[in-house]
Amino acid sequence: MTIYHYFCPSKIRVEQMNRIFLIGYMGSGKTTIGKLLAEKLGYSFIDMDHHIEEKQFKTVTQIFSELGEEKFRLLEQHCLHEVAEFENVVISTGGGAPCFFENMDYMNSRGLTIYLKLSPSQLAERLEVSKANKRPLLAERKGEELRQFVSDGLSKREPYYSKARLIITGDFETAVNEILEQIINNSTV
Ligand code: S3P
Repeated sequence: MTIYHYFCPSKIRVEQMNRIFLIGYMGSGKTTIGKLLAEKLGYSFIDMDHHIEEKQFKTVTQIFSELGEEKFRLLEQHCLHEVAEFENVVISTGGGAPCFFENMDYMNSRGLTIYLKLSPSQLAERLEVSKANKRPLLAERKGEELRQFVSDGLSKREPYYSKARLIITGDFETAVNEILEQIINNSTV
């Protein structure tokens, strides 16, 4: 049997469910789970990093190195406001997006936020095998150095992530199926 659980601090209104924001640290599976959720709901899927890259004609790595992180955060906020106008959409946000400006409160006011929560060790393990060149903040970090970096970063970001309406730990796919059922039945989660 798969073990999972989710935590929902407050009741979610049905009208918030037509716009879903997936949040979480780099490597938490936002894109994979987001696509699955969108497909099952018949919603569109938007990856914010991808959206920014298409509009800027630059990769995220190029934006970081040529324009700097501060400019990237502004572009990210702009992108968030743009995509938050769409309906029937699942949005995969960049790992840092909830932690800058008022982005987290904004997302909570515009839709259903779901935090995909993993431990630093789980994240480091997943990031070790992912494409490092896609994530400028990780640079060349590996092994224990990577785990420590993730652990420090996550403790700074946790206060923002934990403002999500729904926090999922464990087996995301199973939890997502249960959430889906409730969304589809139009009941509150
Ligand atoms: C970042 C996460 C990345 C991307 C950028 C910065 C972060 O997105 O937005 O490299 O600050 O955590 P993913 O979470 O999709 O890797």
